[in-house]
Amino acid sequence: MKVLVLGGGGREHALAWKIRQSRGVEELFCSPGNAGIAEIADCPPLASSDPEAVADFVARQGIDLTVVGPELPLVQGIADKIMANGRAVFGPSAGAARLEGSKVFAKQFMTRHKIPTAAYEIFDRSEQALAYIDRADRPLVIKADGLAAGKGVFIADTREKAREAIQRLMIHKAFGGAGRTVVIEECLVGREASFFAISDGQRIIPLVTCQDYKRAYDHGRGPNTGGMGSYSPALHLDRELTAHVLEKIVGPTIRGIADEGHPYRGVLYVGLMLTEDGPRVLEYNVRFGDPETQVILPRLKSDLVPLLSAAAFGDLSTVRVEWRREAAVCVIMASQGYPGHYQKGKKISDLERFTGRQDIVIFHAGTRTGPGGEIRTSGGRVLGVTGIGPTLAAARARAYEGATGVTFSGAHYRRDIAAGIDD
Ligand code: AMP
Ligand code: GLY
Repeated sequence: MKVLVLGGGGREHALAWKIRQSRGVEELFCSPGNAGIAEIADCPPLASSDPEAVADFVARQGIDLTVVGPELPLVQGIADKIMANGRAVFGPSAGAARLEGSKVFAKQFMTRHKIPTAAYEIFDRSEQALAYIDRADRPLVIKADGLAAGKGVFIADTREKAREAIQRLMIHKAFGGAGRTVVIEECLVGREASFFAISDGQRIIPLVTCQDYKRAYDHGRGPNTGGMGSYSPALHLDRELTAHVLEKIVGPTIRGIADEGHPYRGVLYVGLMLTEDGPRVLEYNVRFGDPETQVILPRLKSDLVPLLSAAAFGDLSTVRVEWRREAAVCVIMASQGYPGHYQKGKKISDLERFTGRQDIVIFHAGTRTGPGGEIRTSGGRVLGVTGIGPTLAAARARAYEGATGVTFSGAHYRRDIAAGIDD
């Protein structure tokens, strides 16, 4: 079997690493990949922003399964193009990917299907949005409708901040067309949690629980990032809560999107706020999380490929998924300056120290191979060091053994990932 993974971050390294272990896989491609992925896969330079070019490659090479990492190609319709050539793809069609691609679509969809979420209003004219803010007497959250690389959400605890967000999005057009329409919603209070499930359009297989850390610095300080660490299992998502989320949120989402003519084949990632009145959806993502994937996949005992293939082919009925009991913790090592402007090109030393270790896996994110074969930094998030152990505390100790054992100039990472969690 030939498999292609699209993307080149830590999430895609974790996917490629797990797919490589599958017995049925003879050839593995990943585009664009990174220095770590290049050790286990061929990395052809495809333009993922050009769905036609990718679909051509898939057809020419006879790729049996394409696994799409990031959301942008999905929202742009890459799954539709690949399926049109009769090839299997793990990742939803453009119609279903609107759950992430348009916040307006997602909110109206939740209303149509009675899925609990924050109360909201939609505006496509700035004067009306500003007038609404002047009338509102509570903290608000302002969201650009379209994709904004995770930067299009503004929590405004004052009227002034809310007005500024409207100015940035609708008047200065900081995110171009993505901010032409905005959602203004009630600010929810509670603990955040993420939930992942794989669907074939109808059936649902929930993945193990996990949690990420979004802020750049220890104790939740500093700016938001794509994620500075993660752990699994996340025990605050207990059995009862999981059952509730499946019944009231994930089930109605999968049924609702199928009823609207867009069966969802891929992984659905639901961002939740656990409020006093129960879980509410903050957002949908139509892809795996990064760095959540770096703790979920090391805990997967079964072969990943039959699971992804079955979802892609629309029949999960015969798939059985087994998980390891061990916990996993991932610590992200980032470049100096991340998530702001950061340095690139720094040499990374001592990666080979952990080769062959079962309890420490180093996933590459922003890395590239230099002219002399050395590995250098090339992105904001550089490495995801995953530790695996019988408890979260043991997994955490392994993750930090890895993070302190690898070096590059300016590296920074949080010291409090999975700290103080009982298991
Ligand atoms: P989103 O991309 O919509 O998930 O928003 C990014 C982040 O903004 C979330 O992870 C939350 O931390 C926060 N957020 C989004 N919507 C709300 C809300 N209605 N109330 C409180 N926080 C929110
Ligand atoms: N870790 C957050 C995300 O993947 O969006």
